[in-house]
Amino acid sequence: MAQKTLLKGRVLSFSGSPFEGEPTEAATLHEALVIEDGRIAALGSASDLSRAHPEATVKDYGNHLIMSGFVDPHVHYPQTAMIASWGKRLIDWLNSYTFPEEMKFGDPDYASEVANRYLDLTTAHGTTTMCSFCTIHPESVDAFFTAAQARGQRVVAGKTCMDRNAPEGLRDTAQTAYDQSQALLEKWHGVDRLSYAITPRFSPTSTPEQLEAMGALWGEYPHCLMQTHLCEQTDEIEWVRSLFPNARDYLDTYEQFGLLRKNGLYGHVIHLEPRERDRLREVEAALIHCPTSNTFIGSGLFDMDGLMREGHRVGLATDTGGGSSFSMLRTMAAAYEIGQLRGTPLHPAQLLWLGTVGSARTLHMDDRIGNVALGMEADLVALDLASTPAIAQREAHADDLWEAVFPTIMMGDDRAVADVWIGGRQAHS
Ligand code: GUN
Ligand code: ZN
Repeated sequence: MAQKTLLKGRVLSFSGSPFEGEPTEAATLHEALVIEDGRIAALGSASDLSRAHPEATVKDYGNHLIMSGFVDPHVHYPQTAMIASWGKRLIDWLNSYTFPEEMKFGDPDYASEVANRYLDLTTAHGTTTMCSFCTIHPESVDAFFTAAQARGQRVVAGKTCMDRNAPEGLRDTAQTAYDQSQALLEKWHGVDRLSYAITPRFSPTSTPEQLEAMGALWGEYPHCLMQTHLCEQTDEIEWVRSLFPNARDYLDTYEQFGLLRKNGLYGHVIHLEPRERDRLREVEAALIHCPTSNTFIGSGLFDMDGLMREGHRVGLATDTGGGSSFSMLRTMAAAYEIGQLRGTPLHPAQLLWLGTVGSARTLHMDDRIGNVALGMEADLVALDLASTPAIAQREAHADDLWEAVFPTIMMGDDRAVADVWIGGRQAHS
């Protein structure tokens, strides 16, 4: 008989979107869940589940909040070692810090060391799935998928393609980008819990020929995700305008080459023209909000409220290492602060939903991950809502769950992550 595990605690499940109607009504609390064969097999009261599953191994988390592991749909794992690099805006930041570090990933040993370090750090912070840019080097993709596969993680990744405006050693061509991406896709996509994302870095580092080749590849594998950057900084947008004088706008530099579809993920999307907003919504593309990055690199304030009202598909991401943290809690806090600066604070239920269900929706994986529900893969985090003296003294007089969880969102870090389960296995304690 399969091994069963019964987890007890305050189990948070979303039955709907907290952006539609009263935020708190989208959430339900249970007392326990049962894991069997890596999936959630039962949810309910602790006494009912204990009676129904007497053979299960029991893990009692007391007052901890058990919820889906965090889903981070825009990261650059190769930027782990240069996170928190000082004083530059986007283009200078790429040239000064990012490209020199990414140059090292042709070395498979270095790539493997950083991939494992990155996954250790993110697991400790409660993130169970991420969608990562790799580097130009196929070795960097192999290293990441190999590390994630060994840990049983559901991850998405792709070779970052660039054939101009990048240093020698970090450039491929339209043809080699196509060939190497296709070979990696064929090798890894659908293996265990791994998925491939076609990954042109952003329009300034690809020639029209390379964008066309990426669009053609996506056309051949339309079930794959495609990830890139869009409208992050105003000077970047000016640069795109000068590089693509015939494009209607930044989005058009993707759209005209077949790089705008429902399963495309567009990172940052801060400074959007009305046409761009309309087209992204029409195709139901995914918009990825990277709040710690957008403040750290000085990019701007994402319009969460307006975009949500228009019905966009939105996820929340760290953008490590443009983002200044590996923590999705810290990322939720930054999203809250940006909402405040725009006059629209986000409810804690909305923040937790964005970092789980919302982000899983951007990856088109919300039928498998991002929520605690029957049949979902058992990627879970147990959060201690009193993990430091500062948080505990605020949580101690909270009137309800949302007041209890908000101090952990605003002030929590890896100390709040009491435990992590990946694919039904305990991954961290
Ligand atoms: N635009 C193109 N490449 C990058 C990157 O690595 N990080 C961020 N934040 N923006 C980008
Ligand atoms: Zn990015």
